[in-house]
Amino acid sequence: MADLSIPEGGFWPAPEIPQPNIYPMEWRVETDKLAAIYEKSKRTVWNPADLPWDGLDPDDFTAEQRLGIMYWFSVLANFDASGPAVFARATIQAFEKHEEDPVRKCFFSITRDEMNHEECCQRTIARLWPGGPLDWVPATDLERAAHNNIGWLYHNGGRYWTGYSSAVGKYSLPVLFTSFMMGEMAASTLFRGMATGTEHPVFSEMFHRIGRDESRHLQICMTILENEWPGLTDDTRSLITRQLRAGFVFLSMILWEPPGGFWELPPYFLHNHRVLMDHARDAGLGVLSYEDQAENWRVAMARIRAIVERWGIEFPAIPELDIEGVEVDFLDPEDIIPVF
Ligand SMILES: [Fe+2]
Ligand SMILES: [Fe+2]
Repeated sequence: MADLSIPEGGFWPAPEIPQPNIYPMEWRVETDKLAAIYEKSKRTVWNPADLPWDGLDPDDFTAEQRLGIMYWFSVLANFDASGPAVFARATIQAFEKHEEDPVRKCFFSITRDEMNHEECCQRTIARLWPGGPLDWVPATDLERAAHNNIGWLYHNGGRYWTGYSSAVGKYSLPVLFTSFMMGEMAASTLFRGMATGTEHPVFSEMFHRIGRDESRHLQICMTILENEWPGLTDDTRSLITRQLRAGFVFLSMILWEPPGGFWELPPYFLHNHRVLMDHARDAGLGVLSYEDQAENWRVAMARIRAIVERWGIEFPAIPELDIEGVEVDFLDPEDIIPVF
């Protein structure tokens, strides 16, 4: 064995790495519960390609029903299909900020799951409406309405992404995660409702599996927040109140109906949205009625309220659902964080 080379006066200390940076590497574990959830996420992984797709036959539906289903999945994709990119960015951020290892790994697992949820949108649309969401030429008024609405929807998705990209670095973990928690609460609520409502075996299995993933995401968010909430300042608390209102405004597009405040939509959007959603409903997709959606959303909101109020965070007013609270007026895209 050759002798070591030891300089006179000892080894030279390596330069300090300017932060934020993913280096130096380390694998700190502070929250065993998060590490356990990550292990569970690896064991319960599933493959959307293995759903019984042969059972989803376009000929079982009318053209309007197929369009309605495609429309619903295109709306869902505005949320679920942004998941991989949103959480990939959050994962990178967690590395750069040297969050403990299980936090980074859990973010990664959410990214992985969301990729599966995106694939469900992709595969369903490819089977029932090739070229969808937008790469097809509409031939009827109903088709033109669907195509145009989806275009407007993604215009808003684009505004969300621009806002998220510029804001994600500015928000601390509790702010970011209260919003994510709201998204996961919304997602688990939505898929639980759809799983009960659908009459189709492919959608039933899909919604059950996605719903299970979303419940795990919610558990991840809650575990992170239990660590983060005790250190909240009043400024952060009022920022979170704002984010909760933003979450409601954004997520209502898929859980219920879009309120004003963020969405830039043409005046005919909502009417045609209702017509298209009715076709999806008629197809047996499991889209709940307007009243049942509102009730589910109200219950989810009450759950979130009970959680955040324990930590002294005030809940925003949601007059659309007769929920009283703090008035939050203007919202711009940078206020909107949640994903599914
Ligand atoms: Fe999720
Ligand atoms: Fe999801």
